[in-house]
Amino acid sequence: MDDLRKPILPGKGASDYERYLRTDELLSLQKRPEEFRHPDEMTFQVVHQSSELLLKGAAWELDRARSLIVAGDFSNAARLMRRADQMLDYPVSMLHVLETITPYDYHIIRAGLGHGSGLDSPGFLALLHIGPRLGEAFYAQLHAANLSVDEMYHRHDEFFGLHDVAERLLDFDERVHLFRFHHLKLAQRIIGGGVVGTMGTPVEVLHQRMGHLFYKELWDVRNQITAKANEAMQKASGQ
Ligand code: HEM
Repeated sequence: MDDLRKPILPGKGASDYERYLRTDELLSLQKRPEEFRHPDEMTFQVVHQSSELLLKGAAWELDRARSLIVAGDFSNAARLMRRADQMLDYPVSMLHVLETITPYDYHIIRAGLGHGSGLDSPGFLALLHIGPRLGEAFYAQLHAANLSVDEMYHRHDEFFGLHDVAERLLDFDERVHLFRFHHLKLAQRIIGGGVVGTMGTPVEVLHQRMGHLFYKELWDVRNQITAKANEAMQKASGQ
């Protein structure tokens, strides 16, 4: 009988778990303790690296969702978007872990970052790339169904699939917004809101970037719907 404890997969590592997940490599990607400028650097690296992995995973699922929207498979697109949105909750909540680093200690770590800046985050850049493409695929389907955004919300029972995708797009937009909000608070808390970052960007710019939304039309339609509802109420009450 096979010894189930013996690895059968190719690669390095004493077990198939380690070989499949490549834990040797993964866990050697952090500085060694003797290389740390400050012991908090472990937390700083682990939070950033895990965030990059999750942002990568989310961007991957959103790209798959985009292909499904193009193919008209809205249920599966929404399923994968839900998954991506769940993944994005973690980089948002992990920002709070870094709030436990006190400013003087952070400056010891920061002195070793060179020009390193989140502006070059491959994971976040991947989200900024997929966001508009996802929106284009959705609006093309709306157009093909001959629907305005307002009409689709009005007839949401009939166009359940498109409505589901629209709501998942909002979830995604909201998470990017939340990431930016909590990240701004983190930066204000650790280095201050009136300074310049490691790549020369004033922290104030992070504040301005929070104004960015991928799917403004989907947010704005709520105003139209409320305005129409108010109008109808006024008419009904004879005002
Ligand atoms: C101590 C913690 C952190 C501080 C003080 C900080 C500070 C900053 C600053 C000042 C900027 C402006 C650009 C520049 O560097 O000049 C920036 C941008 C950015 N950082 Fe951080 N950051 C921190 C942690 C993180 C973490 C954990 C992530 C997760 C991936 C992250 C992702 C980003 C992203 C994506 C941007 C660009 C933001 C945008 O386009 O809106 N940062 N950060």
